[in-house]
Amino acid sequence: MNSNANISISRLQLRHFRCFEQFEAEFAPGVNFIIGPNAHGKTSLLEAVCILLRLQSPRVSQLARVVQHGRRGFVTDGYFGARHLQFYYGTQRKKLALDGVELAGAREWLQIARVMWFGNDDIELVRGSAEKRRRFLDFVALQRDATYRPSLRAFEHALRSRNHLLKQPSPRWREIAAFDAPLIEHGNTVSAARAALIEELQGEADSAHHAISGKRESLRMEYARGDAGDFAAALAAAKTEDARLRQTTTGPHRDDVRFLLNNLPSDDASEGQQRTLVLALKLGAARLLEHHFGPPPVLLLDDIFGELDPARRNALLAALPDGAQKIITTTHLEWMPNFSNSQVLQLG
Ligand SMILES: Nc1ncnc2c1ncn2[C@@H]1O[C@H](COP(=O)(O)OP(=O)(O)O)[C@@H](O)[C@H]1O
Ligand SMILES: [Mg+2]
Repeated sequence: MNSNANISISRLQLRHFRCFEQFEAEFAPGVNFIIGPNAHGKTSLLEAVCILLRLQSPRVSQLARVVQHGRRGFVTDGYFGARHLQFYYGTQRKKLALDGVELAGAREWLQIARVMWFGNDDIELVRGSAEKRRRFLDFVALQRDATYRPSLRAFEHALRSRNHLLKQPSPRWREIAAFDAPLIEHGNTVSAARAALIEELQGEADSAHHAISGKRESLRMEYARGDAGDFAAALAAAKTEDARLRQTTTGPHRDDVRFLLNNLPSDDASEGQQRTLVLALKLGAARLLEHHFGPPPVLLLDDIFGELDPARRNALLAALPDGAQKIITTTHLEWMPNFSNSQVLQLG
């Protein structure tokens, strides 16, 4: 058996998952292609791998959207190495079973595997809203450090509670202030983790950028904190504004990251430069996870090769971590000269 078999997903079964009533797929430890015409479920299948391994979709924040229309829940069931992962998500309840034993929480599960998602709309990381960038940062941070999840959740919980109170007809400040302490405590932990991640990711992304572009352009990342550096002070100063807008207007939920190519903002870069930048970010994140854990993450590449020119396509293929399992969706394989050693799954 291939030595990478213990760091790869080998079998996946789906039920009531997006367009799939019932589906079963086998994956090889190395390179896998999923081929099919549009709307045949290629992206959904890749998404299912991500959800099984990380309990999180790269496409939507609500897993309810993944449930097949008219159904109450979905099942993703598969093997990662020797571990048997079974996840049921229903609108009423969720269930995780690891090697046949039901788990009370996700902590142990989330330590099993890591993934990196490459999508054809990744350019939105540069062009889109700050929320997209925060989601990407969190997607990596959640994998990099197991302690990030409880902090992020506690922060989000305090934020939701505080915002709920601010929306009441006449906000009661004593109650609202009760959420300030947990908001600040967990918010500061979230900010510190994001800052550390950005610092580390910047180096990885910069060298990945060099590998893909072949140029000596520098890629830098700047953390633009939503609280300008002192959350407690910012929160106190925003009281009037929060009351007027009936929401918490400062904090990590307003964080952003800026990208600089040769010290120029990435908004001004060409489309080609922006595409290379986001590839470098994703590749850098994959390498960062590999450096932290030893085994590289499973790489899920959704329909990204068609639109790359041959030079960048080859550079990217060469730069992907060697031992990583790769699952690649595409409408056709004409761009891929040598796929005879790969597993090919045809949809439709
Ligand atoms: N929750 C859902 N229930 C049923 N069908 C869905 C759901 N979400 C998406 N679909 C359908 O799944 C099909 C496959 O989508 P997708 O995986 O994006 O295909 P591809 O990547 O092959 O183009 C689409 O026709 C879409 O309408
Ligand atoms: Mg697709």
